[in-house]
Amino acid sequence: MSSSPSSLFLTLEGIDGAGKSSHLAALEAFFVQRGRSVTRTREPGGTPLAETLRELILARPMDALTESLLVFAARRDHIAQVIAPALARGDVVLSDRFTDATFAYQGAGRSFDRDVLLTLERWVQAGTSDAGRVDSLLQPDLTFWFDLPAEMAAERLAGARLPDKFESQPVEFFRRVAMGYAERASAAADRFVRIDAALPREQVWAQVESALKQRLGLA
Ligand code: TYD
Repeated sequence: MSSSPSSLFLTLEGIDGAGKSSHLAALEAFFVQRGRSVTRTREPGGTPLAETLRELILARPMDALTESLLVFAARRDHIAQVIAPALARGDVVLSDRFTDATFAYQGAGRSFDRDVLLTLERWVQAGTSDAGRVDSLLQPDLTFWFDLPAEMAAERLAGARLPDKFESQPVEFFRRVAMGYAERASAAADRFVRIDAALPREQVWAQVESALKQRLGLA
């Protein structure tokens, strides 16, 4: 997978109710104001096929392997059709969730085998050299992890709308998911930015802006 040197791949992560999605528009505006072309997308989803898979994943009961395979199948199509071409053009790609969500939800939330997920990650995100060798893994340049205690997230979600399959899980599920994010963050500290999502909205955005300056040198 070849990316233009100016391209950026940024992802937003966190448990349901952490408030990440509400900062996507502000992030897009930040880059557009600086003359950048932005591709804004989400997972599961981002292509017609992947959006169809999303409907199944979020509505139908299934075992954790089936769920993981569908999530990665959707991701493969998303990378091939949207993410890789956008990075090759030099875009800023902003994705509402990516593979860290699989390790957090399917891995930690549903206690699914992390080694299987690591294998799927390699298959789906591998780039190949001209000689056909696997030579790199597509990973975000920066991941904003909106961290919020599971109890607070549940309060924020309560009564907001009809919950989907994951949103209707008990608070213990989200405690595990939050631990899953913490594990991924400590394994990839250079890539992760922890955002304290319990603060008021403006202060949450201030942390995002400050990370854009400090980690990416953007003023
Ligand atoms: P979410 O991103 O929260 O979208 P919305 O703002 O519409 O609620 O919903 C996606 C759900 O899918 C969320 O509960 C997390 C789950 N999910 C997984 O379980 N595994 C994954 O790999 C991804 C990307 C998402």
